[in-house]
Amino acid sequence: MPIFLDTGNIKEIEKYLKMGIIRGVTTNPTILLKDGVTGGIMGVRARSVEIARLIDPLPLSVEVTTNDPLLMRSQAQDLAALAPNINIKITIHGPNGELQNLEVIHELEVQRNIRVNVTAMMSAQQCLVAAMAGATYVSLFGGRVANMGYNPCQEITRLRKVLDNFNLKAKIIIGSTREVLNIIEWLGAGAHFVTVVPNLLEGMIIHPYSKETIRQFLVDAAKIETRSEVFPPDEINSNKGQTITTQPK
Ligand code: E4P
Repeated sequence: MPIFLDTGNIKEIEKYLKMGIIRGVTTNPTILLKDGVTGGIMGVRARSVEIARLIDPLPLSVEVTTNDPLLMRSQAQDLAALAPNINIKITIHGPNGELQNLEVIHELEVQRNIRVNVTAMMSAQQCLVAAMAGATYVSLFGGRVANMGYNPCQEITRLRKVLDNFNLKAKIIIGSTREVLNIIEWLGAGAHFVTVVPNLLEGMIIHPYSKETIRQFLVDAAKIETRSEVFPPDEINSNKGQTITTQPK
């Protein structure tokens, strides 16, 4: 299942990892803050090592905490060296539209052999440019795209087509999940991965009608148990070697 977990919470990661239903983890500074990380970049490093070890060899995306090009480069190299399964998240541009991020992305991928996940993107066009720069992953924020009144599925389909047509290596990750439906919808539209917040992943599994059906199975299973006790010992012996069937009355 092409699902990543969008969290920095160790317990949630452990829970879904044991079920075998996640293929990686993504984080960002907002998620790590919410999940209790403190202590600046040292705190980010520590949580990243913990997650990377836990999910190894599955990939973990960790974002740099600066937009200064020199610091981005050094943080990226430092974080990537922490574990072989760590990918580095860099935003498509700076907070004021600074373009140097693409230069950093290109250098990390081509010269430093560091896998980059280009993030905070809201359109297929941005993702295409990131893919051209050499990104391993391009992250489109589906929920935010929808919040702005655009159709994320349309962007995903257009993007997938162009990546395939031009043989670009980038894999599409769609983040910013808001509803359970997003996951299957976005994968259907052509995303390689959807990164899902834990509560939506649970919502994807548990269905009220499944609960009702399972309850009925268990009630009837208990009735079967009770019914086997009504056979007197003689009757059981005389039926040895035969299949005993109990028909519902
Ligand atoms: C993706 O990689 C991001 O971490 C995330 O999905 C962003 O989602 P948000 O819109 O909920 O902040």
